[in-house]
Amino acid sequence: MKNLLILLSAFSFLGCRQSSSNSALQKKVDSLQIAVDNAYKPGLGEFMSEIQVHHAKLWFAGKEENWDLANFEVGEIQEALNDIPKYCADRPEVKSIGMITAPIYNIANAIKEKDENKFTSDFTVLTATCNDCHKETNHGFNLIKIPDVPPVSNQIFKPQ
Ligand code: HEC
Repeated sequence: MKNLLILLSAFSFLGCRQSSSNSALQKKVDSLQIAVDNAYKPGLGEFMSEIQVHHAKLWFAGKEENWDLANFEVGEIQEALNDIPKYCADRPEVKSIGMITAPIYNIANAIKEKDENKFTSDFTVLTATCNDCHKETNHGFNLIKIPDVPPVSNQIFKPQ
Protein backbone atom coordinates (compact mmCIF):
# COMPACT_ATOMS: atom_id res chain seq x y z
CA MET A 1 0.00 0.00 0.00
CA LYS A 2 2.79 2.36 0.95
CA ASN A 3 4.61 1.44 -2.25
CA LEU A 4 1.49 2.08 -4.28
CA LEU A 5 1.15 5.55 -2.73
CA ILE A 6 4.76 6.33 -3.53
CA LEU A 7 4.21 5.11 -7.09
CA LEU A 8 1.02 7.19 -7.49
CA SER A 9 2.66 10.34 -6.17
CA ALA A 10 5.64 9.74 -8.44
CA PHE A 11 3.27 9.49 -11.43
CA SER A 12 1.39 12.64 -10.49
CA PHE A 13 4.70 14.46 -10.05
CA LEU A 14 5.81 13.33 -13.51
CA GLY A 15 2.40 14.32 -14.91
CA CYS A 16 2.78 17.86 -13.53
CA ARG A 17 6.25 18.14 -14.92
CA GLN A 18 4.97 16.93 -18.27
CA SER A 19 2.16 19.49 -18.46
CA SER A 20 4.36 22.33 -17.21
CA SER A 21 6.94 21.52 -19.90
CA ASN A 22 4.10 21.38 -22.47
CA SER A 23 2.99 24.85 -21.55
CA ALA A 24 6.58 26.11 -21.66
CA LEU A 25 6.82 24.60 -25.13
CA GLN A 26 3.54 26.24 -26.14
CA LYS A 27 4.86 29.60 -24.88
CA LYS A 28 8.00 29.11 -26.95
CA VAL A 29 5.92 28.21 -30.05
CA ASP A 30 3.73 31.29 -29.50
CA SER A 31 6.72 33.60 -29.16
CA LEU A 32 8.31 32.09 -32.28
CA GLN A 33 5.02 32.60 -34.15
CA ILE A 34 5.03 36.28 -33.14
CA ALA A 35 8.68 36.57 -34.26
CA VAL A 36 7.81 35.00 -37.64
CA ASP A 37 4.77 37.26 -38.08
CA ASN A 38 6.88 40.34 -37.32
CA ALA A 39 9.91 39.25 -39.36
CA TYR A 40 10.87 41.55 -42.21
CA LYS A 41 9.46 40.40 -45.55
CA PRO A 42 10.35 42.31 -48.72
CA GLY A 43 7.30 43.69 -50.51
CA LEU A 44 6.53 43.44 -54.23
CA GLY A 45 7.64 47.06 -54.80
CA GLU A 46 11.00 46.28 -53.22
CA PHE A 47 11.53 43.25 -55.45
CA MET A 48 10.58 45.41 -58.45
CA SER A 49 13.04 48.18 -57.52
CA GLU A 50 15.74 45.54 -57.21
CA ILE A 51 14.78 44.05 -60.60
CA GLN A 52 14.84 47.55 -62.10
CA VAL A 53 18.53 48.00 -61.25
CA HIS A 54 19.49 44.55 -62.55
CA HIS A 55 17.47 45.18 -65.72
CA ALA A 56 19.51 48.36 -66.36
CA LYS A 57 22.84 46.70 -65.51
CA LEU A 58 21.93 43.79 -67.76
CA TRP A 59 21.53 46.17 -70.69
CA PHE A 60 24.99 47.73 -70.30
CA ALA A 61 26.62 44.36 -69.63
CA GLY A 62 25.10 42.97 -72.85
CA LYS A 63 25.94 46.07 -74.92
CA GLU A 64 29.57 45.79 -73.75
CA GLU A 65 29.46 42.05 -74.54
CA ASN A 66 30.45 41.40 -70.96
CA TRP A 67 28.72 38.01 -71.02
CA ASP A 68 29.84 36.92 -67.54
CA LEU A 69 28.31 40.05 -66.03
CA ALA A 70 25.20 39.76 -68.23
CA ASN A 71 24.78 36.16 -67.08
CA PHE A 72 25.11 37.28 -63.46
CA GLU A 73 22.55 40.07 -63.89
CA VAL A 74 19.97 37.86 -65.55
CA GLY A 75 20.50 35.38 -62.69
CA GLU A 76 19.80 38.14 -60.15
CA ILE A 77 16.55 39.03 -61.94
CA GLN A 78 15.61 35.35 -62.01
CA GLU A 79 16.28 34.97 -58.28
CA ALA A 80 14.08 37.94 -57.42
CA LEU A 81 11.33 36.62 -59.72
CA ASN A 82 11.54 33.21 -58.00
CA ASP A 83 11.22 34.82 -54.55
CA ILE A 84 8.17 36.93 -55.45
CA PRO A 85 5.54 34.13 -55.23
CA LYS A 86 7.10 32.99 -51.93
CA TYR A 87 7.15 36.39 -50.20
CA CYS A 88 4.27 38.19 -51.92
CA ALA A 89 1.63 35.44 -51.93
CA ASP A 90 -0.86 38.01 -50.60
CA ARG A 91 -0.61 40.06 -53.82
CA PRO A 92 -3.08 38.95 -56.52
CA GLU A 93 -0.83 40.50 -59.23
CA VAL A 94 1.68 37.69 -58.66
CA LYS A 95 -0.45 35.31 -60.73
CA SER A 96 0.64 37.25 -63.86
CA ILE A 97 4.36 36.70 -63.18
CA GLY A 98 4.56 33.67 -65.52
CA MET A 99 4.48 35.89 -68.63
CA ILE A 100 8.13 36.87 -67.99
CA THR A 101 9.47 33.29 -67.87
CA ALA A 102 9.96 32.88 -71.65
CA PRO A 103 11.57 36.33 -72.21
CA ILE A 104 14.05 35.62 -69.38
CA TYR A 105 14.78 32.18 -70.78
CA ASN A 106 15.40 33.65 -74.25
CA ILE A 107 17.76 36.39 -73.11
CA ALA A 108 19.66 33.90 -70.93
CA ASN A 109 20.18 31.84 -74.11
CA ALA A 110 21.35 34.89 -76.10
CA ILE A 111 23.92 35.48 -73.35
CA LYS A 112 25.06 31.85 -73.42
CA GLU A 113 25.41 32.10 -77.20
CA LYS A 114 27.20 35.49 -76.84
CA ASP A 115 24.90 36.79 -79.55
CA GLU A 116 24.71 40.59 -79.32
CA ASN A 117 21.94 40.97 -81.94
CA LYS A 118 19.78 38.36 -80.27
CA PHE A 119 20.54 39.98 -76.90
CA THR A 120 19.26 43.36 -78.16
CA SER A 121 16.02 41.97 -79.57
CA ASP A 122 15.44 39.74 -76.52
CA PHE A 123 16.07 42.69 -74.19
CA THR A 124 13.45 44.68 -76.12
CA VAL A 125 10.94 41.84 -75.68
CA LEU A 126 11.86 41.50 -71.99
CA THR A 127 11.28 45.22 -71.41
CA ALA A 128 7.96 45.12 -73.28
CA THR A 129 6.92 42.19 -71.06
CA CYS A 130 7.70 44.20 -67.89
CA ASN A 131 5.23 46.76 -69.21
CA ASP A 132 2.68 44.15 -70.33
CA CYS A 133 2.55 42.87 -66.76
CA HIS A 134 2.36 46.39 -65.36
CA LYS A 135 -0.60 47.11 -67.67
CA GLU A 136 -2.30 43.81 -66.79
CA THR A 137 -1.93 44.56 -63.05
CA ASN A 138 -3.08 48.21 -63.29
CA HIS A 139 0.45 49.54 -62.81
CA GLY A 140 0.95 50.74 -66.39
CA PHE A 141 2.18 54.07 -65.01
CA ASN A 142 5.41 52.24 -64.04
CA LEU A 143 6.67 52.46 -67.59
CA ILE A 144 10.03 50.72 -68.16
CA LYS A 145 12.35 51.54 -71.07
CA ILE A 146 15.79 50.61 -72.34
CA PRO A 147 18.17 52.79 -70.28
CA ASP A 148 20.29 55.57 -71.85
CA VAL A 149 22.90 55.78 -69.08
CA PRO A 150 24.22 53.17 -66.63
CA PRO A 151 22.27 53.05 -63.36
CA VAL A 152 25.46 53.62 -61.32
CA SER A 153 28.78 55.38 -61.96
CA ASN A 154 30.85 53.21 -59.63
CA GLN A 155 30.81 50.02 -61.69
CA ILE A 156 32.65 49.11 -64.89
CA PHE A 157 30.54 47.32 -67.50
CA LYS A 158 33.26 46.81 -70.11
CA PRO A 159 34.95 43.43 -69.76
CA GLN A 160 38.49 43.97 -68.42
C1 HEC B 1 3.50 40.38 -62.00
C2 HEC B 1 3.84 41.02 -63.24
C3 HEC B 1 5.04 41.93 -63.26
C4 HEC B 1 6.17 41.74 -64.00
C5 HEC B 1 6.48 40.56 -64.91
C6 HEC B 1 6.99 42.88 -63.77
N1 HEC B 1 6.40 43.73 -62.88
FE1 HEC B 1 7.21 45.44 -62.16
N2 HEC B 1 5.58 45.74 -61.02
C7 HEC B 1 4.48 44.89 -60.93
C8 HEC B 1 3.57 45.39 -59.92
C9 HEC B 1 2.26 44.76 -59.52
C10 HEC B 1 4.15 46.57 -59.41
C11 HEC B 1 3.63 47.47 -58.28
C12 HEC B 1 4.30 47.02 -56.99
C13 HEC B 1 3.85 47.76 -55.75
O1 HEC B 1 2.66 47.77 -55.48
O2 HEC B 1 4.72 48.32 -55.05
C14 HEC B 1 5.40 46.76 -60.12
C15 HEC B 1 6.25 47.84 -59.92
C16 HEC B 1 7.42 48.04 -60.59
C17 HEC B 1 8.29 49.18 -60.40
C18 HEC B 1 8.05 50.35 -59.45
C19 HEC B 1 8.73 50.02 -58.15
C20 HEC B 1 8.70 51.15 -57.18
O3 HEC B 1 8.36 50.89 -56.00
O4 HEC B 1 9.04 52.28 -57.55
C21 HEC B 1 9.37 49.00 -61.21
C22 HEC B 1 10.54 49.94 -61.36
C23 HEC B 1 9.17 47.75 -61.90
N3 HEC B 1 7.98 47.20 -61.51
C24 HEC B 1 10.08 47.24 -62.79
C25 HEC B 1 9.90 46.04 -63.48
C26 HEC B 1 10.82 45.55 -64.46
C27 HEC B 1 12.11 46.21 -64.89
C28 HEC B 1 10.28 44.37 -64.91
C29 HEC B 1 10.80 43.46 -65.99
C30 HEC B 1 12.17 43.02 -65.93
C31 HEC B 1 9.05 44.15 -64.19
N4 HEC B 1 8.84 45.20 -63.34
C32 HEC B 1 8.24 43.07 -64.38
C33 HEC B 1 4.27 43.76 -61.68
C34 HEC B 1 5.19 43.19 -62.55
